[in-house]
Amino acid sequence: MSQKIIIFDTTLRDGEQAPGASLNVFEKVEIAKQLNKLNVDVIEAGFPVSSQAQFEAVQRIADSVDTIITGLARTVEEDILAAYNALKESEKFRIHTFIGTSDIHIQGKFGHDRYGKTLQEKRSTILKMACNAVQYARTFSDDVEFSPEDAGRTDQSYLAEVVEAVIEAGATTVNIPDTTGYTMPEEFGEKIADLKKNVSNINRAVISVHCHNDLGLAVANSLSAISNGARQVECTINGIGERAGNASMEEIVMALKVRSNFWGFHTDIYTEEIYNSSRMISGFTGMLVQPNKAVVGDNAFAHESGIHQDGVLKKRDTYEIMTPESVGISNNKIVLGRHSGRHGLSSRLIKMGYEFSEEQLNNIYERFLELADKKKEVYDEDLRVLMGDETIVETGFYDLDYLQVNLGTTTIPTATIRIKTEGKVLEESATGDGPVDACFRAINRTLGLGDNVKLEHYQVRSITGGKGALGEVTVRLRVGGEAYMGKGISTDTIEASVKAYLQALNHYESMKDINIVFENMATV
Ligand code: KIV
Ligand code: ZN
Repeated sequence: MSQKIIIFDTTLRDGEQAPGASLNVFEKVEIAKQLNKLNVDVIEAGFPVSSQAQFEAVQRIADSVDTIITGLARTVEEDILAAYNALKESEKFRIHTFIGTSDIHIQGKFGHDRYGKTLQEKRSTILKMACNAVQYARTFSDDVEFSPEDAGRTDQSYLAEVVEAVIEAGATTVNIPDTTGYTMPEEFGEKIADLKKNVSNINRAVISVHCHNDLGLAVANSLSAISNGARQVECTINGIGERAGNASMEEIVMALKVRSNFWGFHTDIYTEEIYNSSRMISGFTGMLVQPNKAVVGDNAFAHESGIHQDGVLKKRDTYEIMTPESVGISNNKIVLGRHSGRHGLSSRLIKMGYEFSEEQLNNIYERFLELADKKKEVYDEDLRVLMGDETIVETGFYDLDYLQVNLGTTTIPTATIRIKTEGKVLEESATGDGPVDACFRAINRTLGLGDNVKLEHYQVRSITGGKGALGEVTVRLRVGGEAYMGKGISTDTIEASVKAYLQALNHYESMKDINIVFENMATV
């Protein structure tokens, strides 16, 4: 049997650090359940000390999913204690603690004299903090991971010294992050090989890697690290994450699977759940997947040129190195129509991997009929949207009750909107530069929202095929200092825009009371 590569998913922690990708607790729990279906080995659920919302999300996930759950913590007691408190209900949990070890991080982030005056003194303080943190974390769990942040740019002999010391202190996984996506595959592989060779106790810990994609090399660097001894990779679905993102899970997993003859390693991922996972993350975060994205992009299995089409029709493997089915993309195109019954709908949805109660099915079926009335043919893609919509926000703080828009080539666009909230029904009208602008102004007026709410991003796209295609609108609102995403789906893009705007406001309302961002996050 080939050796296993441990898949550590950080979509809910590093992935959520992608600009504008904030998720509410409900969405995080849904994603964690999907990651569980995908059969990842470890889920990094968040950074518990950073806010009450993060703490609560990690706690809820630890309570709902039986995979190993981990939470991030700086090398300070307050963070480690918060991680432990958030994770303790989980049967199996890991504490993941980190501190910057490159000279750039040491001089830039730990410049104050309390860490020491010279670089040498500061390095020795950092090393002690790392060991103390690992020892402290071990009082709560036998499973402790340590990350020397910016290892990619850390002096190699100091890195080896830190790694050896934290393993001695009790770290069971040492994660080597290329935090800034700076290294080249060969160079990063050599870093891992050097640790394997020169750290005397390296066999007592699992070597992990965590690569960022600033130069588009996160997956290549991760694979190169595997070649040189890494046995855990940290990655995210769709490669989302800080800046240019993290190594993409689907690419690493499929590279190991499709080229198992080359690698001789395996993962325990149910690859048939990859596509569902990708769609769910994209739906909840509002971050679209580029069409030519490897494995999960819309074009990943599309053959355009005549020669390719001819080849694939004759024998699929002429131009396909993996099948769409192997990553969960169904070949089933036309699914249902307005005459389809509840049974047909439910069995199709179950085949697509969804779970729902009888009561939810009633609601889904009603909405399916509405959609089938507007569109003749309902595709799998439509059903996915319908289900995504179902799981996002069932009832919000603000519900759209009525919308009327007047527009024409010679009239000023005017919108009248009625919103139900807390048992009241509020109505207002407004004009705008266009119908969508008029709607957004009418919402602001109805809810008495002032300059505090800013529309930062607006995007509309057609997500399904055919004349009655569904339009998806994604908006990002900035309320105070925080960004809130909202998504709306309808065959009418103006209605979808209003739904998206209200959903972003609902996000804000659901996070408002619990989103106390702790101070002093920038300093250790
Ligand atoms: O990129 C990074 O270095 C990280 C660490 C906290 C593992 O995300
Ligand atoms: Zn990272």
